Amino acid sequence: MPARIIDGKAEAERLRKRIAVAVGELKSRHGLTPGLAVVLVGEDPASQVYVRNKARQTVEVGMNSWEHRLDASTSEADLLALVDRLNNDPAVHAILVQLPLPGHIDTDKVINSLDPDKDVDGFHVINAGRLATGQNALVACTPVGCVILAKQALGRLDGLEAVVIGRSNIVGKPVAQLLLKENCTVTIAHSRTRDLPAVCRRADLLIAAVGRPRMVTADWIKPGACVIDVGINRIEENGKARIVGDVDFAGAVEVAGAITPVPGGVGPMTIASLLRNTVRAACAQAELPVANMG
Ligand SMILES: NC(=O)c1ccc[n+]([C@@H]2O[C@H](COP(=O)([O-])OP(=O)(O)OC[C@H]3O[C@@H](n4cnc5c(N)ncnc54)[C@H](OP(=O)(O)O)[C@@H]3O)[C@@H](O)[C@H]2O)c1
Repeated sequence: MPARIIDGKAEAERLRKRIAVAVGELKSRHGLTPGLAVVLVGEDPASQVYVRNKARQTVEVGMNSWEHRLDASTSEADLLALVDRLNNDPAVHAILVQLPLPGHIDTDKVINSLDPDKDVDGFHVINAGRLATGQNALVACTPVGCVILAKQALGRLDGLEAVVIGRSNIVGKPVAQLLLKENCTVTIAHSRTRDLPAVCRRADLLIAAVGRPRMVTADWIKPGACVIDVGINRIEENGKARIVGDVDFAGAVEVAGAITPVPGGVGPMTIASLLRNTVRAACAQAELPVANMG
């Protein structure tokens, strides 16, 4: 029987509705309007689309949104000065610096200059450390989205064998930390892993965050496993541009128990998780209990 398709678009829409309700309550009960500032340096076309979508969805759930678009030649010092201004602006509860930054700017320096409590992407070393040590952290948005989708498909994740392919700071490592928190037995695989197909076949929950089109084929998947495909790979096929994941969907869907499509799986959850993190950051800064968003 083909796998159940995990509908990330529908799940993201449900989450955004819950966020809008929470924002409405924060406004009416506490006079608090969460606000997200997004900083974009340069003209990268994909980043421009992401930033536009983030701003639109922030406004749609009732929050304040600010966009700061800076020229590609902006100096590191000017960018750090803007971050400092946003760190000190009480109306701004969350700051996102869109990556990648131009080569002349030190990305780690900029990320680590953010107020950790406003670091809505969860990339600051303090948030990575809080997550790793089980403390309350702002956690990277794509990993949060992955875990929400996995739970939607599987219910409790306790005791499951989870394999994460990829060890980046923005996806692989934080998703592995979150799965550990959910009491999975976690393996992190990467480019040096020996016999990757055999490692993947152990997984009840397989998360692919590699950036290689259709690398994970049906024979890597344990029958009935849940497969979460984070990959966004732009390819050309039969003369047409297409976006495909890290998993060969057509084959995998015949073996897996549940699977996310690309597009329409993890992607839409990333912005919804960003909005959720913004609300969490605003509540924490206002010393209010975190609004219930499910
Ligand atoms: N849906 C979303 O919203 C969203 C958000 C972020 C990223 N993404 C997508 O997710 C994918 C991963 O992103 P990323 O930023 O984590 O990428 P990344 O920083 O390039 O990391 C890729 C990881 O995959 C591993 N890898 C590469 N080739 C491999 C191979 N042949 N076998 C096993 N492991 C291999 C690398 O291992 P080493 O460490 O050993 O080099 C690395 O750990 C990309 O397609 C990206 O576009 C999607």
